[in-house]
Amino acid sequence: SNCTVLVTGGAGFVGSHACKALSRRGFTPVVYDNLSYGHEDAVRWGPLERGDILDRTRLDEVIATHHPAAIMHFAAFIAVGESVTDPGKYYRNNVAGSLGLMEAARDHGISAFVFSSTAAVYGLPEVVPIPESAPKLPINPYGHSKWMVECMLRDFGEAHGLKSMALRYFNAAGADPDCETGERHDPETHLIPLALDAAAGVGKPLTVFGEDYDTPDGTCIRDYIHVADLAEAHVAALQALLGGADSNAYNLGTGNGFTVRQVIDAVEKVTGRAVPHSIGPRRPGDPAALVADPSAANRDLGWRPRISDLDSIVATAWAWHQKVNG
Ligand code: UFG
Repeated sequence: SNCTVLVTGGAGFVGSHACKALSRRGFTPVVYDNLSYGHEDAVRWGPLERGDILDRTRLDEVIATHHPAAIMHFAAFIAVGESVTDPGKYYRNNVAGSLGLMEAARDHGISAFVFSSTAAVYGLPEVVPIPESAPKLPINPYGHSKWMVECMLRDFGEAHGLKSMALRYFNAAGADPDCETGERHDPETHLIPLALDAAAGVGKPLTVFGEDYDTPDGTCIRDYIHVADLAEAHVAALQALLGGADSNAYNLGTGNGFTVRQVIDAVEKVTGRAVPHSIGPRRPGDPAALVADPSAANRDLGWRPRISDLDSIVATAWAWHQKVNG
């Protein structure tokens, strides 16, 4: 059988870990990436085809060459703040780019599509832990762009039989336990890599965005999920689709939340170094708590996090940080 999977954004953080997981399960990941944010040396488990998701001619050529049985779609811009100041960039790449990719899937008879979505589709949730049925009320263009693609996938499923799984990540973190790939965003905005930079002295002191939230220590609560666990969920979702499962959307998180202070404590414990930090104002758009109800992915996909305890997340991210920063 044909076990080739086209992985858009496969040179990026979650995409590269998914390629490793695919290859371990006998799939061949063909990475389609324009390397605008991805890293060529993160493509290690299959060929790299350089291309932009907005370039339909190039997409057709790559699909005709490799005949993938499925698509995993990670290619997207992810900076929430930038999406507010430059929404066109997000709607063009994330929405129009995904539309072209779905049309290519339809035209080439590819019927399985795994989509990288986000907890940002829920906006400011009223109920935590958040079930998939919670209202989809994004509060920024990034979240809107991801929810729009989920809606387009639903409609392409109805009209054209394109079957899809939308996977809504909570806070993706950590790095490959073998240190073969990891997080390298530029600019970096995520808490754990910034805390590691501060601990290592390669970055500025960390600013904690608000300590007056209605949480036990006043800082925001997030559900950190190890990127290797995310990667396994993508393979499980793909296998479910190839096995005849219906389209669906799943939260990917642990169901446990940690405050920013707890993350700083874990970084200090794991690295053995202090995290220089100060308290700043709240960051606009940050909900007090975002925690997944991940029970549907467990029930339907047989997935559960295996290395997403906070110490394992921080330890693998620290090992990768040391490898990258020497
Ligand atoms: N934080 C700080 N200081 C920093 C960076 C972050 O205090 O310098 C705090 C944030 O306020 C938040 C927590 O650390 O409470 C985590 O922040 P991240 O920026 O690492 O992650 P977010 O929760 O903001 O964002 C994640 C994904 C987004 C997604 C969002 C909602 O990275 O893509 O969840 O699902 F949109």
